[in-house]
Amino acid sequence: METYNIAIDGPAGAGKSTIARLVARALGFIYVDTGAMYRAVTWKVLQEDRLPIQESVVADVARGMNIELIPHAEGQHVLVDGVDVTKLIRSTTITNHVSEIAAMGEVRSILVARQKQMAAGKGVVMDGRDIGTKVIPDAEVKIYLTASVSQRAERRFKEMQSSGDDSVTLEQLQQDIKRRDQMDQEREISPLVRAHDALLLDSTLMTVPEVVDTILGLCRDKVRGG
Ligand code: DC
Repeated sequence: METYNIAIDGPAGAGKSTIARLVARALGFIYVDTGAMYRAVTWKVLQEDRLPIQESVVADVARGMNIELIPHAEGQHVLVDGVDVTKLIRSTTITNHVSEIAAMGEVRSILVARQKQMAAGKGVVMDGRDIGTKVIPDAEVKIYLTASVSQRAERRFKEMQSSGDDSVTLEQLQQDIKRRDQMDQEREISPLVRAHDALLLDSTLMTVPEVVDTILGLCRDKVRGG
């Protein structure tokens, strides 16, 4: 069977991880959530109380830590030096600090080097912000997945409500998404941009299976067309 790589980039809350996981499962590929790696570094920095956050300190932490992404039916488990931080890295505190850490050049080069290694064997679906532009610019299939701010906030709101979390309002979520979009798009190093050869997929009016089928169709075309 032909193996290739799939890069999925896009803003926060566009559904990248859900889609990437399902595409990986359908193809028997490995799913790599690169955002989880930036979150893992953030967790370790806060855990060690290395505040205020300084780039050289964060880079040392990143260099010295082991991050394992273990495939699982419902996503992936994230281990930092053997400790399962899958749930911990999704906390509001981590979400509030991670953009700052993801904007650090030294930290990015450490993580990007590891991500390149993960993709070297092909057969990977990787999601993030710079996958199609920096990590695997030669990926055979590239997707830029987006959706309107209100749609992304609404999806997140429903998700939180169904897990019994009513700590934030829909308006707060919208503001938070706008703030994260701005930070990801305006940072100096590897800002979030669509690769010139990535397919723009706006999922605002699409269901999850529709998005997955579109990507699988593109994969079939690429493999057939070479
Ligand atoms: O996708 P996410 O919310 O888990 O990403 C967490 C943060 O990491 C977010 O600020 C964007 C950043 N990120 C990045 O800069 N590059 C990536 N390849 C993945 C995530």
